[in-house]
Amino acid sequence: MTVRHFLTLLDFSPQELQALMRRAIELKAMQARGEIYEPLKNKTLAMIFEKSSTRTRVSFEAAMAQFGGHALFLSPRDTQLGRGEPIEDTARVLSRMVDGIMIRTFEHEKIELFAKNSRVPVINALTDRHHPCQLLADIQTYIEHRGDIAGKSVAWIGDGNNMCNSYINAARQFDFELRIACPAGYDPDAALLASDPVRCALVRDPVLAARDADLVVTDVWASMGQEEEQQKRAEAFANYQVDAKVMSAARPDALFMHCLPAHRGEEVSAEVIDGRQSVVWDEAENRLHAQKALLEFLLKK
Ligand code: CP
Ligand code: NVA
Repeated sequence: MTVRHFLTLLDFSPQELQALMRRAIELKAMQARGEIYEPLKNKTLAMIFEKSSTRTRVSFEAAMAQFGGHALFLSPRDTQLGRGEPIEDTARVLSRMVDGIMIRTFEHEKIELFAKNSRVPVINALTDRHHPCQLLADIQTYIEHRGDIAGKSVAWIGDGNNMCNSYINAARQFDFELRIACPAGYDPDAALLASDPVRCALVRDPVLAARDADLVVTDVWASMGQEEEQQKRAEAFANYQVDAKVMSAARPDALFMHCLPAHRGEEVSAEVIDGRQSVVWDEAENRLHAQKALLEFLLKK
């Protein structure tokens, strides 16, 4: 049998993604009832982090602990990967010892190469191009607050980054409309955007993108690895803050999401992220539940 990986949302069918969402909501309820459920007893997840993380690391580690398994934190600082051992070799070796491998890295091609050489499922925990695990949590959060996201209208305001690319994939897989407002020069992946012209549109103006939206989403202006561009980006994105004016263009019951960490006063005003429409804490919590559903799907025999 071929090994299933989760490198982008397109690795799963829309039906599988819907099932994951239902399961995530179920697992969350089981956890709340205090039910012990250990489907991954004696299983190990290796977690390779080449970039910083709070939510991703803690949610995967807690998920494995709750499932009766074990998570192993690996950083390039103290593994041979950081000293130049080939990715292919690392993948071959690790995948003979553990049951799943989660990777947060820079180039998306790196995780593809890793997956190609792995005997066990590889999970993308963020690359420069995609952040599919975050999308699982975002969609779960939308469903919990407002029901099915199919046919709804989502506004992406800010950088056409990894999160934006994953929203384009989500629009296809969960069947919603996506309007993207980003300054010229900061567009999402052109081929990806062009692949779904019916659902996805580039609208430069944030207020226009947010008009009648059911969900407004943003992310940092400078992602990990772009720290030296911070100043230049702050200027380019000056008119792209999600503030009360942008939110007032959306539907009155629109939700606000941000994958976090956030910079109040930059991509989002404090009033919005700490306001009544913001669901960012539920969104962050759901990283745990959505990834438990993902781990169960990929790792449980
Ligand atoms: N949203 C997210 O992936 O957060 P971390 O960088 O803290 O993992
Ligand atoms: N776009 C951000 C997301 C962080 C979770 C980054 O890549 O740094």
